[in-house]
Amino acid sequence: MRKLTNILVTGGAGFIGCNFIHVLLQKTPGFKGRIVNLDALTYAGNAASLADIDAEFGGKRYFFEHADITDRAAVETVFKKYDIDTVIHFAAESHVDRSIVGPEAFIKTNVMGTFTLLDVARNFWKDRQDVLFHHISTDEVYGSLGETGFFTETTPYDPRSPYSASKASSDHLVFAYHHTYGLPVTLSNCSNNYGPYHFPEKLIPLMILNILDGKPLPVYGDGKNIRDWLFVEDHNTAVWAIVNKGHTGEKYNIGGENEWTNIDLLQRLIDIVAAKAKLDPEKVRSTITYVKDRPGHDRRYAIDCSKLKRELGWKQSVTFEQGLAFTVDWYLANPEWVKNVRSGDYKKWLENNYARR
Ligand code: NAD
Ligand code: TYD
Repeated sequence: MRKLTNILVTGGAGFIGCNFIHVLLQKTPGFKGRIVNLDALTYAGNAASLADIDAEFGGKRYFFEHADITDRAAVETVFKKYDIDTVIHFAAESHVDRSIVGPEAFIKTNVMGTFTLLDVARNFWKDRQDVLFHHISTDEVYGSLGETGFFTETTPYDPRSPYSASKASSDHLVFAYHHTYGLPVTLSNCSNNYGPYHFPEKLIPLMILNILDGKPLPVYGDGKNIRDWLFVEDHNTAVWAIVNKGHTGEKYNIGGENEWTNIDLLQRLIDIVAAKAKLDPEKVRSTITYVKDRPGHDRRYAIDCSKLKRELGWKQSVTFEQGLAFTVDWYLANPEWVKNVRSGDYKKWLENNYARR
């Protein structure tokens, strides 16, 4: 039986991690344990995303540790201080475009950071079997699909960007620690997430905010690349199902079964944002700008998540229409959060990223 009592969440100040902490502490009555959020607060991490959690649970069931996952001594201290029995490892450098211009941080955090966590967990837990290391990964490790077919758990790895290569590398290390040292692990490969607290360098929040600001809407290449979109809360209920009931040593694909070309998605988003913000949708459409493609741009991702559905009884809880409407409402209702995350290097990053195109 897994203890699931003192849970170390890495990267809990980022998009998916902070949503996970909200789901677990506010919407999972069966969970009575403690969460320790270890986060380096890079440009993508934002402590304000957890202000409500800190106010309600801080010092009782929620603890924040400002540390880097590559810092072995700091990670060891956290394991001892909280007697960690479960790791749910979200922390990563996560943006493909950034990995193209600066891959080194991806190797450090995603490869060396994951190695450090695995090695500390192995030394701290010895041969215990009531513990678990769950690794959060991406469908991008499988490469790019043609017009048909789906990624399954047995699809061979074929990563193509420095981001996906670093995630693939970390996935291999996770299973190496299981096979070599017997470390109890599970792993999940998820498709593109969207929802509240999403850093506005990624497609959906970037487009929502650019529409609201009347800025150009930059579409890479021909706009026909396909992604499979999943509401972030549904990703997190899947993670919790795997952590509770998933078979040790196994991986699970998580997906939305919801494929969209970027251009069709953008057209839909324009309709939703324009209706809510009382903008003229045709005027907004005129700001769509096709720009130079991302180098090595994967054409299509599509996940077969039937193993997760069959074995663990998980399913998506919202339609894309509901999830997008909720997300747009959230961005409209949280201008302070937006202002906060757009300070720092954000403006410079955007200028450089789009100047290259
Ligand atoms: P994010 O970039 O929004 O957040 C990453 C978090 O990790 C931030 O809080 C950041 O401060 C922290 N972090 C980065 N480097 C760190 C380090 N060295 N030490 C400690 N903390 C560090 O990322 P996200 O979108 O929330 O993604 C979370 C995880 O999910 C990642 O592992 C990513 O590969 C995976 N994933 C993301 C998606 C997606 O659509 N966003 C899809 C599938 C899988
Ligand atoms: P992104 O949100 O960066 O996620 P990922 O690359 O991990 O799938 O991009 C999603 C898709 O949107 C991808 O095909 C690239 C495309 N895209 C644009 O067309 N314009 C943009 O400004 C951005 C950020 C992405």
